[in-house]
Amino acid sequence: MQQIKDKITQLKMEKNAVILAHYYVPGDVQDIADYIGDSYYLSKIAAEVKEKVIVFCGVYFMGESAKILNPLKTVLMPDLKADCPMAHMASVSDIKKIREKYNDIAVVSYINSTAEIKANSDVCVTSSNALQVIKSLPNQYIYFIPDKNLGSYISKLVPEKTFVFNDGYCHVHAFIKAKDIIEKKEEYPDAKVVAHPECRAEILELADYVGSTSGIINYIVKSDSTDYIVCTETGVFHEIGKKTKGKNLYPATLRQICSNMKMNTIEKVLYALENFDTEVKMDETVIKNALLPLNRMLQLAEVKSNE
Ligand code: 13P
Ligand code: SF4
Repeated sequence: MQQIKDKITQLKMEKNAVILAHYYVPGDVQDIADYIGDSYYLSKIAAEVKEKVIVFCGVYFMGESAKILNPLKTVLMPDLKADCPMAHMASVSDIKKIREKYNDIAVVSYINSTAEIKANSDVCVTSSNALQVIKSLPNQYIYFIPDKNLGSYISKLVPEKTFVFNDGYCHVHAFIKAKDIIEKKEEYPDAKVVAHPECRAEILELADYVGSTSGIINYIVKSDSTDYIVCTETGVFHEIGKKTKGKNLYPATLRQICSNMKMNTIEKVLYALENFDTEVKMDETVIKNALLPLNRMLQLAEVKSNE
């Protein structure tokens, strides 16, 4: 293992490469990354890095977003087949139909969407900035795609706007049911329930904290409680374990593993840097059109975080 890590360090220098990783990838891949974070943080970093090559350890829409935000860079992925099924659960033809039906509608695409969907959207959001971004839009109507759970969660926080939903969902988060939380609460009555907004409404209603992967990590690290029932992918346990000791983390179910994120192995990171044949390649027009909603997200989210 150390040999692989040393080769990666060497190749990063030779090829002028930087490694970005999401919290859901395996712990040893998180450990070799230069930047680890949630989708919002990683998109900001992807737009700013100076190195010539970005190795993106995540799922395909993340590699695509890095390429869109920094198109002159070479974006490599350890496995181009690591894909988020939800990213495909919206369609351009539905967007067109909705635009015809409502005059004053903003098409808001969650960053977990294909580049083609983004290219047909008005603005992108992530779970950590959706509220700020949507609140700041001038439109009365919001078509939120693809995730119906995140969309419905945000709609309750922005009652002044009218939401039109789509039927997408994340199978990892939507698998968790209220009965799982109730059972775990019986076992660990003092535990705090933390949930990602991709979970069903019935989970979010039971949660003490709802937030992005970074939000969940920060909440647990700062909170005084010892026990936590965690409703997100268990990859976040790695970072929590590095930042705090003595906390008990209980996944709500035994199925909170994103098999696509886990396709990012350390061996494949090395392969990507050695061979350069796992590059994210995209149509230039799609890049140009998808950059607008992504940049708009970065601007709207930034304005708020600077206030
Ligand atoms: P975050 O934006 O919270 O990192 O979430 C990404 C994701 O894919 C959740 O399933
Ligand atoms: Fe997609 Fe769900 Fe995996 Fe996140 S956890 S990348 S939303 S499948």
